[in-house]
Amino acid sequence: MNRKAIILAAGQGKRMKSVHSKVMQPILNEPMLEHVIRELEAVHTQSIEVIVGHQKEEILDYFKDRIQSAVQEPQLGTGHALMCSLELKDEEGLVLITYGDVPCVRRETFEKVFTLASNCDACIVSAKIEDAGAYGRIVRTPEGQVVGIVEAKDATSEQLKIQEINTGIICFNQKKLFKHIKELKNQNAQHEYYLTDMIEIFVSYGYHVEAMIIDDMSEVMGVNDRLQLAQASQVIQKRINETWMSEGVTIIDPSQTWIDAKSVLSPDCVIYPGVTLNNAKLADHVTIKGPSFIENSSIDAYTQVDSSHIYDSTIGSQTTIGPHAHIRNHCVIGNHCRIGNYVEMKKTIFGDYSKSAHLTYLGDAVVGKHVNIGCGVVTVNYDGKHKHVTTIHDGAFIGSNANLVAPVIIGENALVAAGSTITQDVEDRAMGIARAYQVNKPSKGQSYKEK
Ligand code: UD1
Ligand code: CA
Repeated sequence: MNRKAIILAAGQGKRMKSVHSKVMQPILNEPMLEHVIRELEAVHTQSIEVIVGHQKEEILDYFKDRIQSAVQEPQLGTGHALMCSLELKDEEGLVLITYGDVPCVRRETFEKVFTLASNCDACIVSAKIEDAGAYGRIVRTPEGQVVGIVEAKDATSEQLKIQEINTGIICFNQKKLFKHIKELKNQNAQHEYYLTDMIEIFVSYGYHVEAMIIDDMSEVMGVNDRLQLAQASQVIQKRINETWMSEGVTIIDPSQTWIDAKSVLSPDCVIYPGVTLNNAKLADHVTIKGPSFIENSSIDAYTQVDSSHIYDSTIGSQTTIGPHAHIRNHCVIGNHCRIGNYVEMKKTIFGDYSKSAHLTYLGDAVVGKHVNIGCGVVTVNYDGKHKHVTTIHDGAFIGSNANLVAPVIIGENALVAAGSTITQDVEDRAMGIARAYQVNKPSKGQSYKEK
């Protein structure tokens, strides 16, 4: 049966105290709404429509043609939001309504609701909780048949005692919802058009309504403030970490490890506490010690990273990085390399078996294989107006504290003497030395100290 989803996201989200749309607040490196959309895409939903209002540009810019959208202005309630839909049509099929601020629902749950709804006219996802608070209550006959949802603000004191609540996710027969949506009224405590009143309307026409009780309340938690944002992040964090552990990854402390949904890890990776992986791909046996932050990067097998930041880069296999390295802006690091503490690399290609063990800046550099970069080497890549390339060929040795003023080429197996400021190319096998001669003055040291 044809599946559609409509996500309500027009509300303001005042309690976030943010200039951004509530559904764009990040959870594990992605907007809250992304989590809802990803799970709906995974269950083959043919169209996903987001009802937008507050800060709509931000939402539309981000999701572009992955979603349909309709604008609800002003916001007169969840039922009114649905009336604004352009996708709700007089067509066969199912339409699932959910909220943009309920980000933890799993694809398995969406799949179950769609399946159950295909055998009735509407299926509500409900939950049983001790303190039903402000949630809408599911009203059933003594025989257990669902007959309506009553909002807390409109409930009688008897109804307030009901412990089965509406999570907000409801799947309808589209033709019937389209036919009766205009019958919603706003005569209630909040003078809003309640989507939840559709249940009573359906029942009044003799349609068959079911409620599916969900066990795991954490899946349907709503996010209204920063505390709930952190709680929902933990729900998704735990889920992702447990998935990777079941795939053979060791995560030493899952509560202190943040792996986003786009990252891919391989068996026998070991992740220490304090690691954040955003869109990172790790091959087998990669070890990452924290604190480390790795974004839009891939790391090949058996490489070890310690307390480092890596952005938009590719790292080869059996390489060691850190502690305290910073690799950014499209670096390509080879296999069997060593990049040690306080080394920064920017837009640099670094060949197999090359080493840069301490205190170095390599920017816009092309470094061959088996190159040794001494301590404190700096590529002087910027003249204040333009960036220039430093090329270092295979087997070259760059002595400590050398400045390589780009553009400059260091030839194959060439040597740059320690402390040199190199402004001219050094030919293959040659030695470049550029520093003042040393003068030693006898006894001068001691007399200086005694003064
Ligand atoms: C709603 C349900 C309630 C349920 C609860 C679960 C109704 C009337 N009530 O109540 O039964 O227990 O969710 O969390 O549906 N929205 C719009 N346009 C509007 C109003 C809301 O798009 O005009 C969006 C909001 O952005 C939000 C969602 O709909 O994403 C829910 O709205 P909210 O006002 O928070 O509903 P609740 O009062 O929590
Ligand atoms: Ca709410």
